[in-house]
Amino acid sequence: MSNPYESDKLVNEYLLFHYGQPNEILPFPEGPHQALDFAVRSVTAMVDEASLPETPRALDLGCAVGRASFTLSQYGGEVLGIDFSQAFIQAAQHLASNKALAYDRIDEGLLTTRLMAKLPAEAQPGKVTFEQGDAMALRNDLGDFDICLLANLLCRLPDPRKCLDRLPKLVRPGGQLIITSPYTWLDDFTPRSHWLGGYREGDRPIVTLESLRDALEPAFTLEKQRDLPMLIREHARKYQWTMSEGTRWRRQ
Ligand SMILES: C[S@@+](CC[C@H](N)C(=O)[O-])C[C@H]1O[C@@H](n2cnc3c(N)ncnc32)[C@H](O)[C@@H]1O
Repeated sequence: MSNPYESDKLVNEYLLFHYGQPNEILPFPEGPHQALDFAVRSVTAMVDEASLPETPRALDLGCAVGRASFTLSQYGGEVLGIDFSQAFIQAAQHLASNKALAYDRIDEGLLTTRLMAKLPAEAQPGKVTFEQGDAMALRNDLGDFDICLLANLLCRLPDPRKCLDRLPKLVRPGGQLIITSPYTWLDDFTPRSHWLGGYREGDRPIVTLESLRDALEPAFTLEKQRDLPMLIREHARKYQWTMSEGTRWRRQ
């Protein structure tokens, strides 16, 4: 399978998902408005601000087109966003440098509307760096971080344990690891032998949260768990509504 996250279609879809105004994404009063602004909420609903140092260093792994990285920059420290998709990283870098990026929202079939993604008010673009990289084979000199965010990344990796194994080194003692995931395990992204949940071992159902505990404890302690709805608009009358699970883990 060629990487779907390099396609124009997904660059456009994610620019709308991350930067679209509510009326541009969901003009229907009956729609699930609480599911808007997921990228912002993945940070603001999950980070424990009270325990952050003065200028926290943050890592956004699988940052896509960068909205959560910009939200993390509001805490005043350096932010590094890493994604495997060169097209996503280029879009995020363009926004950081030029403060705006035009894109096309699909309305129906070949009909589109040109919209403008704008750098959000909370962003401190001078503090944010984006780079292409593989969450399963990160460069060795990344250093360590006060906040590490993995938003909807794990079930898109061929071998998620390779990413989890690196986390104790990436998160500083006392630091926060935020994981969000709908646990959508698919053979197209992750061979079944590497799923973290969604299968049986004998009679016992294995669920992802249990595997996360096995992989992360005792280096991390689970301290917060909450539902985080999200909404991706495919076209004017079709959406993906997803309930991601957010967990916050404290590095011991
Ligand atoms: C479902 S999207 C989530 C994006 C973003 N965090 C969000 O919540 O909107 C999965 C992201 O993971 C990225 N990704 C997939 N495999 C990766 C890898 N091996 N290393 C880093 N990023 C990867 C994709 O390019 C995509 O941006």
